[in-house]
Amino acid sequence: MKTILQTTEDGSHTLYVPELDEHYHSTHGAIGESMHIYIDAGLRHCLSAEINLLEIGFGTGLNAFLTLLEAEKLQKKIHYTTLERYPVSVSTAAELNFSDFTDPSRKETFRMLHTAAWEEWVQVTPFFWLKKLSMDLHDFLMIPQDEKFDVIYYDAFAPEKQPEMWRQEIFDKLYAFSRDNAILTTYCAKGVVRRMLQSAGYIVERLPGPPGKREILRAGKKV
Ligand SMILES: C[S@@+](CC[C@H](N)C(=O)[O-])C[C@H]1O[C@@H](n2cnc3c(N)ncnc32)[C@H](O)[C@@H]1O
Repeated sequence: MKTILQTTEDGSHTLYVPELDEHYHSTHGAIGESMHIYIDAGLRHCLSAEINLLEIGFGTGLNAFLTLLEAEKLQKKIHYTTLERYPVSVSTAAELNFSDFTDPSRKETFRMLHTAAWEEWVQVTPFFWLKKLSMDLHDFLMIPQDEKFDVIYYDAFAPEKQPEMWRQEIFDKLYAFSRDNAILTTYCAKGVVRRMLQSAGYIVERLPGPPGKREILRAGKKV
């Protein structure tokens, strides 16, 4: 997918996809959005001592990078599985300025997320293991998972752009792939998505969104 580097309102970069007329993050602030939805509303609400996390859409690696930094603050070990159908090139990733806005001394750590081998576990830091899978979500969902997930970041492109990524069967499978008390967060608060999550079995909360977004969703597997 052809992408164009852009700067969002908090100064952090994002990528724009002309073919879809879609950004990877909110133009009101990429880092602010990721922190708000995935770290604050998702990761920090998980009480497990060690966390098995699934991300839909590795993209720029921003969510993975923020999670790696947070794992150190929380002193929790995180196994981070992430799916990506259209990987961003290492050279494009090298232009992204996320470490400038978080911890400039970790620029190399961010680079390692992109140079890490695909399809296998790679230990990136003492608290963070990464497995990048270059595959379509639909294919991943066909594979039985031995280890279920505590946290899911559902960060696909918007339903208007990729309707096939927002279907009931997907959320049913993700629910089945989740441990008891698991959390799924997403930026998309549309009623139709909320109802699909509820039909899958989740208890869904609408939470205030980051700048430019009224609400986000947090779904919990309560048993
Ligand atoms: C909103 S962006 C994700 C942003 C990413 N989490 C980040 O931090 O940069 C959506 C991502 O989903 C990926 N994607 C699109 N269709 C997919 C599919 N069928 N399976 C897996 N990933 C897909 C896109 O290539 C893109 O990287």
